[in-house]
Amino acid sequence: MALSQTIEYGLGACELERQRLLAQCEMYRSEAEQLIDRIGVSAGWRVLDVGCGPLGILDVLAGRVGPAGSVTGLDREDRFLEMACRSLRERHVGEVDLVCCPATATGLPGGSFDLVHERLMLNNVVRPAEVVQEMVRLTRPGGYVALQDTDWISWTCEPAHPDWDALYNAAARAWIGDVYVGRRLFGLLRHAGLVDVQVATHTRVWRPADPYQKLLLRFIELYRDRIEATRLLTADEIDGSVRRLRAHLDHADTFTLYATLFQAWGRKP
Ligand SMILES: C[S@@+](CC[C@H](N)C(=O)[O-])C[C@H]1O[C@@H](n2cnc3c(N)ncnc32)[C@H](O)[C@@H]1O
Repeated sequence: MALSQTIEYGLGACELERQRLLAQCEMYRSEAEQLIDRIGVSAGWRVLDVGCGPLGILDVLAGRVGPAGSVTGLDREDRFLEMACRSLRERHVGEVDLVCCPATATGLPGGSFDLVHERLMLNNVVRPAEVVQEMVRLTRPGGYVALQDTDWISWTCEPAHPDWDALYNAAARAWIGDVYVGRRLFGLLRHAGLVDVQVATHTRVWRPADPYQKLLLRFIELYRDRIEATRLLTADEIDGSVRRLRAHLDHADTFTLYATLFQAWGRKP
């Protein structure tokens, strides 16, 4: 593993964020399995998970391609790859190559993978088409590119609450990347020249006992400085909205409908 990059992921890489991402890997495990089933990933495939973070779908892929295949994880941050090493060791997954580089300039040989996948990375980049272009370059003719990212279009609480709207808008505007990229995945693959492009969506409902019921408050905490610096809300407005919304989300009558996970995949001609 080459350890060299310094650019940072907007939500940081603290222990809490590592745990959130690992819990999210479990949460989205069945969606990942459905996706690789639909693509037909099987023993012997050479697969790459771009922006793998502290695990991504490396374990799911390793289980599917078996010892005859190969799995590579790529991330631009050393600290995430160190976490990935640890996660793989804890899960007794061996033989995964980890590469530290930006997704737009990997330096890996073109056409060297049967599947190039990313999940929840395009949400965090400013020019997703450039990442997709590199993913297509790395895929062999006849191989697949697969994308999975959320779109906040569906993210809401019921009953509605004005503090949800204020904090949702502030978080969406402060976000580094695009919280609505999910809906663009299909078009990104088609414009990149892939064929047989398909799309699927998944969402979830959360209740007060689910940690994701209050995920918006966690994002506000992480982006608080940016929200204040860009004067989207003052410190007092944030404090008041967080306090009132927390009480609302704790109420037994309240549920949240989560962001939609879009999956799009296609074949390189
Ligand atoms: C939200 S995490 C998702 C991690 C993992 N794919 C998963 O599903 O759990 C986003 C990851 O993408 C990585 N990332 C963001 N932009 C990147 C880029 N331009 N090149 C490589 N990695 C990038 C971040 O370092 C982070 O590990």
